[in-house]
Order: sequence, then C-alpha cells, then structure tokens
Amino acid sequence: MSQHKDERNSRMPGFYKLPIRERLELLDKFAGLTTEERYVLRREPLRAEDADMMVENVVGVMGMPLGLALNFRINDRDYAVPMVTEESSVIAAASHLAMLVRNHGRLTAECDDSVMIGQIQIVDLEDAELARRKVLNARDRLLQMADEQDPVLVQHGGGARGLETHVLHTDEGDMLIVHLHVDVRDAMGANAVNTMAEAIAPSIEEMTGGRTLLRIISNLSDKRLARAKLVIDPAAFAEHGRDGDVVADGIMKAYAFAAADPYRAATHNKGIMNGIDALVIATGNDWRAIEAGAHAYACRDGNYSPLSRWSRDEEGMLVGEIELPMALGIVGGATRVNRTARIALKILGVKSAGELSSVAAAVGLVQNLAAMRSLVAEGIQKGHMVLHARNIAVSAGAVGELASRVANQMVREGKIGFERASQILQGVLKRAHKGVHDLRVKVEKAGEEHPVEPKDDDSPKDPDEEK
Ligand code: MEV
Repeated sequence: MSQHKDERNSRMPGFYKLPIRERLELLDKFAGLTTEERYVLRREPLRAEDADMMVENVVGVMGMPLGLALNFRINDRDYAVPMVTEESSVIAAASHLAMLVRNHGRLTAECDDSVMIGQIQIVDLEDAELARRKVLNARDRLLQMADEQDPVLVQHGGGARGLETHVLHTDEGDMLIVHLHVDVRDAMGANAVNTMAEAIAPSIEEMTGGRTLLRIISNLSDKRLARAKLVIDPAAFAEHGRDGDVVADGIMKAYAFAAADPYRAATHNKGIMNGIDALVIATGNDWRAIEAGAHAYACRDGNYSPLSRWSRDEEGMLVGEIELPMALGIVGGATRVNRTARIALKILGVKSAGELSSVAAAVGLVQNLAAMRSLVAEGIQKGHMVLHARNIAVSAGAVGELASRVANQMVREGKIGFERASQILQGVLKRAHKGVHDLRVKVEKAGEEHPVEPKDDDSPKDPDEEK
C-alpha cells in the first residue's frame, strides 16, 4: 500500500546492504508497487516490442542499472529519486549528501512555467528589418494559428504565449529568426513546438517575401529554468574526525577554482549532470536536450562557468544555488512507452513536469556538493575504487559474493585491473576445485575403509515395478 503523501519517508537506513528482493519490499511500502511493476523492475524493464515502437531497426534492448537515491527532502517533501547510471558511487554519494542536508540543512527548489522556444529561420530577405516588423505586427494572428495546431494542449492551459524576432548578420547574409514561445505544460514539448513552428512558417514566408528554412525547437530553453537552493551547516561535514569548517572552506575554494577555470568548470558541471542525467534517463526523458541546454546556459555570458554558485552566509552556513534549463515531461514520448520510466515516475511521485524539473535541479545541486565534499575530504578514488574494482571483477567473470571478494583483494593490494582480477579469480577457483577434489578423495577413502551395505529400501525404485 502506498503511504499517504505526507508520510512518505525516503530515509531507509541500511537499504544498500539489503538484497534486491528486500529493497523492493521497502520500495513497495514507499511507492505502492503492483505485482506487475515489481516484475517489470526485476525481470523485464523494456520489452523488445516496446523498444520496436520507440526507434528503428530494433534488434534488442540494453540494460542499465536503476537505483534509488534516498534521503531526499525537497520543499519539505520526501523523495526516493530513481537514477539510471552506469557510474558507480553516484547514487551512494547523492544519498549520503541528501542525508547530511536532511539532518543539518534545507533543500528547496522551484521552476518557471513550461515555456519552450521554437525557432523559425527566414532567409533570402530583401530587408530583414522590415520583415521583422511585419512579423511582429501579425503576432496575434500567428499565435492563434499556432494554438489551432494543438487544441488539447490549449484545453490543458498551455499554448502559444509570445513571439520574439532577431535579425542575424551572418556569412550567408542577413536572416530573420522568429522565436515562438509555447507553454507545453506537462510535456517535454518538442513535438508540440515543432508542429506549431512548421504550421506558422508558410504565413511568415508570405508576409515577409522570404523563404523559411529551419523550423525547430531550441534546446537552450531559458524560458523554462529550474532552480534549487541548499543551505547546510558545515558541522554536517565533521565526519571521520574531520573539521566540518575546514571541509566547507575547501568546498568554497573548489568552487572558486571552477568559477575561474573552464577546464575545472566542465568537470564541476559534469558532476552536476551525473545526478540530473540519471534522473532524466530514469524518467524516459531526452537527456541530450538537457545536456545541450545545461552547457549552453553555462556559457550564456560568453564564458563557460559553473552551473551552481556557492557562498557562506553571515552565520557561516554553506549556501548553494543552481539555475539551469530543464525541459522535462511526464506525459508523452518514452515516459509513456517505457514501462520502467512509468514506474520511475510513480516512485518519484511527482504530479507535474514542473515538480520533476524542480527535483532534478535539487538533485544536481546535491550531487555537485557530494562531489566537492568528497574531493576536498577523502578524495574521489577511495569510494570509487571499490565499485570500480567490482565492475572489473565482474568483467573478468566473477559473480555475486565472488566479485566482492576479488574486488576487495584488488583494493587492498592497490592493484586494480582486468589481469589482476583474472589472476585472483583463477586462484580462488583453483583453491575451490582443489577443496572439492580433496573432499571427494576423503569421502571415497572413507567409503573404502568403511563400506556401507545398501539397505534394501535404499535402492532406487523402478516406478513401474511398484504398480
Ligand atoms: C565524476 O563523475 C564527477 C566528478 O569529477 C565531479 C567533480 O569533479 O566535481 C567527481
């Protein structure tokens, strides 16, 4: 049974130690999964026939781990955040930092209305300025024409909201670019916007005397920004004998490095996107669109910069803020076709695309702080290495407990690589074979020394004889 909204508690101590079956039981209590949903998660996340509806030339499906980042409390509501990622430590780091924020701070998030931009390019103009004025004069008619393309969206409170024009002086001559603003509500919006842009293009051609070329959504969706803010007491970082204030100071210096250097800013932002992409993929959204928007926004003033900002307030609290485009949907596209994406949305329990976008921004900010905290404290490799070593052990053929054993040995030795994993695995298997062999010899010997006469009723029976 699903818990009441306000009773949802994403704090599940020891979750990581449980077998998958027991984790699913806890998740069931949190999100109220059906038997079919549990089956989908464990056995058949994406059917080939569903995949065949999504893209062309399908020959199969490829799996990726889906985990839960726990402990998130955003705007005073608990969330278990579904994350799909191939990178070890991302989910653990997010969960750990979310717990620190939960216990020693506060995380809030919000977002703009879901307004997307469609771009229409008009070329071969005699006078681009004059064309621009003509388009602006026809604004209301063009917006109405755009709305007529999607009455369902309009019924749901969305639709065309505005029009902007830009004249570009390029190597290929002057061109007019029309921006159509559309509130796409709970959709990502690419389909709605592209359809509208294509629909109004002929009228724009007619009124300007030019030729329309591209009619496509812009992924720099800066009318649809999401923001999050995190305030945390540096005392939270006083773990393993560390001075929390020193860690917070280190985080400020790490941020200053990113703010001053694009080489570092790229990695800083990659850490943010580790969290955001994982949620975006889990919910079946277009993560390339999110990546494109994020990095273009990081460059909006001409310098590639960190997407987050960090400071200390007058009480010494560490304060982080993030703002970035977030074109996410909870209806349409892969969010519907992919059964796992539907389950991920159910687990997250968001009611609107805006809520999903706010959570995504908050997750990005937490992931960013998690990365900086571990970089300035224990260093990133310690945690990474155990899981990395386990991946290598698995690729060398170890499974389950054996993979952990091989991985732990490699970490202890400080030698992590495929060859060493294979050697250790061979050694373990050889010892196991030898153990089995020795045991068999012992049993056989014991049998020779003390032969046991088979009792009559011990002999295998022929079932036909009994009839
Ligand atoms: C690794 O995937 C992400 C980090 O490099 C981010 C960062 O350096 O801030 C740890």
